[in-house]
Amino acid sequence: MDLHHAIMSRRSVREYTAEPVDEPTIRRLIEAAVHAPNAVNQQPWTFTVVRDQSALARVSAAAKVYMQANMPAGLNSPRFSMLGDPSFHIFYHAPVLILISAVAPGPWIVEDCALAAENLMLAACAGGLGSCWIGFAQGYLNTPEGKQALGLPPAMVPVAPIIIGHPKATPAAVARKEPEIRWVG
Ligand SMILES: Cc1cc2nc3c(=O)[nH]c(=O)nc-3n(C[C@H](O)[C@H](O)[C@H](O)COP(=O)(O)O)c2cc1C
Repeated sequence: MDLHHAIMSRRSVREYTAEPVDEPTIRRLIEAAVHAPNAVNQQPWTFTVVRDQSALARVSAAAKVYMQANMPAGLNSPRFSMLGDPSFHIFYHAPVLILISAVAPGPWIVEDCALAAENLMLAACAGGLGSCWIGFAQGYLNTPEGKQALGLPPAMVPVAPIIIGHPKATPAAVARKEPEIRWVG
């Protein structure tokens, strides 16, 4: 798949088959991630690969409680009512979560980890896999309990929780707004 096709066909996938993602594939995705541009070539990222489904279920349950209690202003809308649904799994039962984190402080760790995440998601798409960034997990994973749940050291900041798996179906494209473009010169 060429790059343009990968960019245009990547979707946030929220339904997965039970097929696992094998270790060489996960390593290939991480290899793509670490080739992202990064500030001062510090390569600050750490990849936590979580395949333990009971750990993911525990984090999902705790993250829902956390999100409901700490909803960012402006997001408290009926769109997020699924957080109160006991059957809603924030990781959509995906076979693997790859959490990209970095040790704080660092002026550009968020940018670095986000760029690594995009490389990882595009590589997954090119390899026929689905992915989705799970922002619902971030707040909880950044608490002492959340870090402990996935064995993250206290100084580590979880930036990009990305689920990966074999898509059950190809989701429709989400429409994009016309970009605002300002030309100078
Ligand atoms: C920072 C960030 C957080 C996100 N959090 C979630 C999430 O918690 N749950 C979810 O289902 N999708 C999440 N998404 C996926 C977006 O909803 C999705 O990218 C957007 O609707 C555009 O759709 P597309 O990725 O299929 O193009 C997140 C995406 C980003 C970049």
